[in-house]
Amino acid sequence: MTIQQTELLYLPPDLKSELLPKHVAVIMDGNGRWAKGQGLPRIMGHKRGVDALKNLLRCCKDWGIQALTAYAFSTENWNRPHEEVEFLMTLFQGVLRQELREMVEENVEIQFVGNLQALPVALQREISHSMAQTRGNQSIKFTVATNYGGRQEIVQACQAIAQKVKEGLLNPEEISEELFAGHLYTAGIADPDLLIRTSGEMRLSNFLLWQMAYAEIYITDTLWPDFDRNQFHQALRAYQQRERRFGGV
Ligand code: FPP
Repeated sequence: MTIQQTELLYLPPDLKSELLPKHVAVIMDGNGRWAKGQGLPRIMGHKRGVDALKNLLRCCKDWGIQALTAYAFSTENWNRPHEEVEFLMTLFQGVLRQELREMVEENVEIQFVGNLQALPVALQREISHSMAQTRGNQSIKFTVATNYGGRQEIVQACQAIAQKVKEGLLNPEEISEELFAGHLYTAGIADPDLLIRTSGEMRLSNFLLWQMAYAEIYITDTLWPDFDRNQFHQALRAYQQRERRFGGV
């Protein structure tokens, strides 16, 4: 029995493997509220949020989902209190260092998207290292959006394309949807089929604006640290009941 068949055995029987999303994106919201509800400082919510993300990654891999993209830090999140931003940057770095071996063993490819040059240098180094060590791994593509903003991503794609036109490398008529998508941070990654947002907020919050054109959106009141395998199962059940028409009838 191949590894993939073994893994698929764990898919709950009410889910159809042929109707699973290939790519799941997630806005992990509600860490602060979760911590407050437990009488804990906000940073404890982020710590528990990492555990929820690890569980989701494992679940996606076990059930045969090919890609997971998580919104870890937006370009707007710099406006949070300095101590919280600093904590998050240190947390990301620590998690990467701690989890790299397991990601390599589990054949996970990790990738970061966003304006990475503005991140602390030590974190940039950890990011480059983890991307290099997992490049080409096949079990699941795990993308972390860090210092990411959808509008900023579109603007930088426009600048790169305009530069090519200016240098005579490209004619304006050659600019197509495919060419444009190839200049986004997510070049080479298929668009998400399902977006999950926790904590009941009904916003895209500048996340993957171009890529989300036909994504199904699932919103749950559950706070991110409480989002577990059962919650994900429910989200997938709801997704499989949707009829995806992509603008057709
Ligand atoms: C939103 O909750 C959450 C964040 C801004 C941070 C999410 C980051 C993680 C879970 C860590 C991921 C780690 C790696 C390495 C990928 P909030 O603080 O906005 O919650 P609130 O709306 O209740 O205040």
